[in-house]
Amino acid sequence: MASSKSSKTTLLLFFFIVTISAQQQQPFRCSSRGATCNALVDYVSPNATTLSAIRTLFSIRNLRTILGANNLPTSTAANYTIASRQTVRIPFPCTCTNNGTGISNRRPIYTVAPGDGLYHIAAEVFSGLVTYQEIQAVNNISDPNRIDIGQRLWIPLPCSCDDVDGQRVVHYGHVVAQGNSLQGIAQQFNTSQDTLSRLNNLTSAQDLIAGAVLDVPLRACSSMVNNNSMDYPLLVPNGTYVFTASNCVRCRCDAAAMNWMLQCESTQFNSSCQPIRCDGTPENNFYLGNTTTSSSSGCNRTTCAYAGYINTTTIMTTIAVDHSTCPAGSSATKLLQHWRRWNFVLVVINMAALLLCFLNS
Ligand SMILES: *[C@@H]1O[C@H](CO)[C@@H](O)[C@H](O)[C@H]1NC(C)=O
Ligand SMILES: *[C@@H]1O[C@H](CO)[C@@H](O)[C@H](O)[C@H]1NC(C)=O
Ligand SMILES: *[C@@H]1O[C@H](CO)[C@@H](O)[C@H](O)[C@H]1NC(C)=O
Ligand SMILES: *[C@@H]1O[C@H](CO)[C@@H](O)[C@H](O)[C@H]1NC(C)=O
Ligand SMILES: *[C@@H]1O[C@H](CO)[C@@H](O)[C@H](O)[C@H]1NC(C)=O
Ligand SMILES: *[C@@H]1O[C@H](CO)[C@@H](O)[C@H](O)[C@H]1NC(C)=O
Ligand SMILES: *[C@@H]1O[C@H](CO)[C@@H](O)[C@H](O)[C@H]1NC(C)=O
Ligand SMILES: *[C@@H]1O[C@H](CO)[C@@H](O)[C@H](O)[C@H]1NC(C)=O
Ligand SMILES: *[C@@H]1O[C@H](CO)[C@@H](O)[C@H](O)[C@H]1NC(C)=O
Ligand SMILES: *[C@@H]1O[C@H](CO)[C@@H](O)[C@H](O)[C@H]1NC(C)=O
Ligand SMILES: *[C@@H]1O[C@H](CO)[C@@H](O)[C@H](O)[C@H]1NC(C)=O
Ligand SMILES: *[C@@H]1O[C@H](CO)[C@@H](O)[C@H](O)[C@H]1NC(C)=O
Repeated sequence: MASSKSSKTTLLLFFFIVTISAQQQQPFRCSSRGATCNALVDYVSPNATTLSAIRTLFSIRNLRTILGANNLPTSTAANYTIASRQTVRIPFPCTCTNNGTGISNRRPIYTVAPGDGLYHIAAEVFSGLVTYQEIQAVNNISDPNRIDIGQRLWIPLPCSCDDVDGQRVVHYGHVVAQGNSLQGIAQQFNTSQDTLSRLNNLTSAQDLIAGAVLDVPLRACSSMVNNNSMDYPLLVPNGTYVFTASNCVRCRCDAAAMNWMLQCESTQFNSSCQPIRCDGTPENNFYLGNTTTSSSSGCNRTTCAYAGYINTTTIMTTIAVDHSTCPAGSSATKLLQHWRRWNFVLVVINMAALLLCFLNS
């Protein structure tokens, strides 16, 4: 057991800290108690580092989760260098607490190193995304000046799972840069100043302080994912991608190219990923992600879409017909109403049967 106490902070320093953190932003509102979802936050690296170090710092299991959130190629190496002051988007699981605020769900876990103080961990290691008081509160630390080397601390990152204007969104903790305006941020992320002010309890544009973490709602691509799926609701914001269904499916949101429709395809992640086929189509070789614009149906575009997964061996698909390529009534808002008549097809990948096939061949 690590027993040496790391109580470096002096009383004087402690008062200095309180003055600084008094002007820190408020936590994010998250009203649906107990709800969980995925969220994003900016990490502005204080020093040059690597993606691999960031992955470890934020307790993220797979590097490709970070790659997808930052739209980096899947081939990006773990030792990819992140420059000092560069911003990396961190994906993490969020939960709404009992007091109406949202925090990262039991992650990341930081292990106290020799010489660490709570303030250093909050303000420097996690670049001010949390206050030391928030770390103290969730970890039941009675004296912030007494933490143990080797002690494991839950770092409560700010987040939310709330719908915004009746829409499911991904809440993104955006770190305000020097010279940013509310109008500029609203434009950059295709939201409105009103929405940002309301979510962040801002009374005037002057409330925008460089380094503050702003709750920015990101619209996600619409998907066909069934509500009994393990990854429901699969919310993928514009310009990002995710791996799902035990890494056997990759879904990307490209608002401009696909009119806010989520695009999913199968991956060859490892040998347990099988080709995922849509049944019930005239074509027999219609696989997840395949799209046809058949001449018999005129302008209708038919896609084999991802509909979710139940367990590691059962991936669901559906056939979606998109009329947006038709000349009449092809506005973006009407598009959703035009998705109709889709049937679920279970693609059961039975490992035992596969093994038998393999052995027989
Ligand atoms: C990163 O790792 C690859 C091999 O995985 C190696 O070839 C390359 O030199 C490394 N780059 C740096 C900057 O360390
Ligand atoms: C950044 O680098 C400086 C100087 O090397 C070091 O003192 C500081 O602890 C580093 N910060 C982090 C968060 O690693
Ligand atoms: C709400 O709860 C979280 C942790 O559960 C705590 O960090 C935060 O300070 C609380 N906020 C208020 C306003 O009580
Ligand atoms: C802190 O204490 C509360 C109530 O005593 C408990 O529910 C919670 O699990 C504790 N949190 C940690 C991180 O130990
Ligand atoms: C989002 O972008 C679309 C197209 O660029 C635009 O028509 C719409 O007004 C924007 N929404 C907001 C809230 O700014
Ligand atoms: C919004 O800010 C006002 C004044 O700063 C404060 O009294 C109020 O509690 C805040 N509301 C929320 C929901 O944070
Ligand atoms: C799930 O979707 C079905 C229809 O697709 C609906 O009848 C059901 O109420 C939904 N369940 C939940 C928990 O939303
Ligand atoms: C979607 O993201 C791309 C870059 O990835 C950007 O050029 C485009 O403006 C974004 N569209 C919307 C509507 O946000
Ligand atoms: C394939 O990847 C999944 C998920 O990462 C893993 O559970 C499984 O063991 C892997 N299978 C093989 C044959 O490597
Ligand atoms: C259909 O999908 C499969 C599997 O993803 C792919 O190999 C094939 O090239 C696709 N066919 C067409 C016509 O896009
Ligand atoms: C497109 O498909 C729908 C049904 O999926 C059908 O009712 C409609 O007639 C088709 N449109 C054309 C132009 O073939
Ligand atoms: C996965 O789900 C399917 C359909 O619900 C079921 O038939 C199958 O037994 C499940 N497989 C495992 C390994 O749980």
